[in-house]
This record gives sequence, structure tokens and C-alpha cells, in this order.
Amino acid sequence: MTGLVVRLAPAKLNLTLAVVGRRPDGFHDLHSVFVPLTLADRLSLAAGGRADTLHVDGPDTGPLDDNLVLRGIAAARAAVGAGPGRPATPALAARLEKRIPVAAGLGGGSSDGAAALDGALEAWGARELVDDDRRLAAAAALGSDVPFFLAGGAALIEGRGERVQPLRGLTSGEVGVVLVTPRVAVRTPDVYGLFAGAAGAAAAAGGAGDPSIRQSSEHLAQELRAGLDASGLIARAGVLAAANDLRRIAEFIVPELIGFRRALMRVTGRPIAMTGSGPTCFALYPSHADAESAASSIRTAVADGTVPSPGAGPPGVIVTTIPATNRENAS
Ligand code: C5P
Repeated sequence: MTGLVVRLAPAKLNLTLAVVGRRPDGFHDLHSVFVPLTLADRLSLAAGGRADTLHVDGPDTGPLDDNLVLRGIAAARAAVGAGPGRPATPALAARLEKRIPVAAGLGGGSSDGAAALDGALEAWGARELVDDDRRLAAAAALGSDVPFFLAGGAALIEGRGERVQPLRGLTSGEVGVVLVTPRVAVRTPDVYGLFAGAAGAAAAAGGAGDPSIRQSSEHLAQELRAGLDASGLIARAGVLAAANDLRRIAEFIVPELIGFRRALMRVTGRPIAMTGSGPTCFALYPSHADAESAASSIRTAVADGTVPSPGAGPPGVIVTTIPATNRENAS
């Protein structure tokens, strides 16, 4: 049993998100390029108590029993199994410092779940006993986005999220990112649920989205497999802003998101993309400092009403980066 295990659980961006088809199990097959961000939650795990516990510092993450941290620990315990030759899996006290906006399309809950799964195995000294396939299956059972976070870098995601192909990603520099999260609820199941219905063409095409989005996603995956530098990624920002099949569905559910995104485009003079099923919008910059100065313009524009505040208050504005990966041998 190791002492204290501390993990950073990064947020993610979907640089592209193509819906490829609807599956018999009701989920959707995707082709999506994911990158981790520097913005991260911090999870610590220590043995103690009679049952697993969780303390969350930060924004309300909903009922603790549903939290992916506790579910991740339980999944790790099930993967280790009990019986002769298996290590003990004592109760863990988890503490989560939450920095990633919740239900925002940034994968925060899924990342916490992956960190808990992997961190619990480490705390029990059981990482070697659970092979990669088993860990991946346990992660996929926690949620569609969880397997990505086990990979630790840029990746092409296929299937409903369980097929993770590491990409070399950003070869040099870092890309500044401004995240703007309006205070509206866009539930992921609602977005996927409306996808086939609201998009008549998608129903006719077996649940697939716009073929040009799929093409953009394939092209970016190919480029990031070899590696792109920061300026190469920023040069593609316009294409990426149009490369999410779920954006128009989120904007169909919350029409105010259309004016919100257009106002952000006017204020920043940049393409504005949406991550996942939303509602977080983002813009890319050559440096953290450039992203900081854009963020301050956005805050001013929110305060004077030039950028509207759909929902329950002003949007959250966060500056972060896409870090360069040091992965050399991604397939
Ligand atoms: O797996 P997760 O709990 O994140 O998925 C939430 C919901 O999003 C699912 O119930 C499903 O309706 C939808 N979904 C989907 N296809 C995916 C991922 C999620 O239809 N690839």
C-alpha cells in the first residue's frame, strides 16, 4: 500500500467531433480528435476509514454517490478482484480540488474518474495486476470519455469512446486557449438524442453527420499523427470551428448560443469552436499571454453587454493551454 497518491486530472478539448453513425446499443460511433489541456482538477487518495469517501473543494458537482471518483475507485476494486493472491483494497479517502467547469463539454468528471481508477490501483500497489485491456474496459464502463484520459496525450477517439489511438500531437510550443462557458445546461444525452431526429439528413445516412466534418476530422488526425507545431494548429482554427457535428444540435436546444458564439467571434476576431456536446466555446492563440489579453477583452464585452450572457449569469472565462506532448512514437 502506497501512502498518498496525487493525480492531476486534465480537462479535454474536442478539436474535431464527427458523428459517424448510430449503434444498436443507442450510443453513437464517433471520429474525434481529443487533446488534454493544462487546466486540471487535482485528486488525492489516501487509505483510511471503513468506506470510500469523497470531499470536493470547489463548484457543486452534484450528488457525491454519482461522482465518477467514487465510481472509479469501485471499478478499480472490482478489477483487482478478491481472493487468494489478490492484494487488499482498503477503503480510500479521496479529496478532489475541482477547477474544471462542470457539465461543460470539458470532460472534467470523466477525467476525475480515470484518475481515480488509475490512482486507486497505484494506492493498492495493484497496477501490474490489471492489464491495459482490463483497465480500458473498466474505464469505458464508467463513461464514453473516460478511456481517453488513460492515454495521457492527444488521441484519435473512435467507437463510442473506447477506441483510443494515441497521436503525436503538438510537437513544439504551446497553444493558448480561451474557454468561455455560458451558464446554460446542455445535457449530453439530449444532444445525442436529438441528433438523428433534428438532422433529417443524419437519419437518412444511418445516423452519420456532415461528411465534410468527418473529412476534416480524418485530415487533422492524420496531421497530428505525424505531429503539428503550434502555428500549424492555429492555422487550422477556422476549419476546426466548423468541425463539430454536435454544435448545431446544442444551438438548436439553446438558440441563444448562436448569438453568443457570433458575439465572441466579433469581439475576438477569431474562429470560435465548441467542445464536445457543449456548451463551452473556445478560441486558440499563439501564446498564453495572447489568450490572457483576449480573455480580458471578452470579460469587458460581457460586462458591457456586447457579449450576451445566456442563462443564469455571466459566462465563465478561463485561460489555459494545449501543451506540447513529448510522445515520440505514437502510432
Ligand atoms: O457514456 P456517457 O455516460 O458519457 O454518455 C452520456 C450519454 O451520451 C449516453 O447516454 C448517450 O445518450 C450519449 N452518447 C452517445 N454516443 C457516444 C457518447 C455518448 O450517444 N459516443
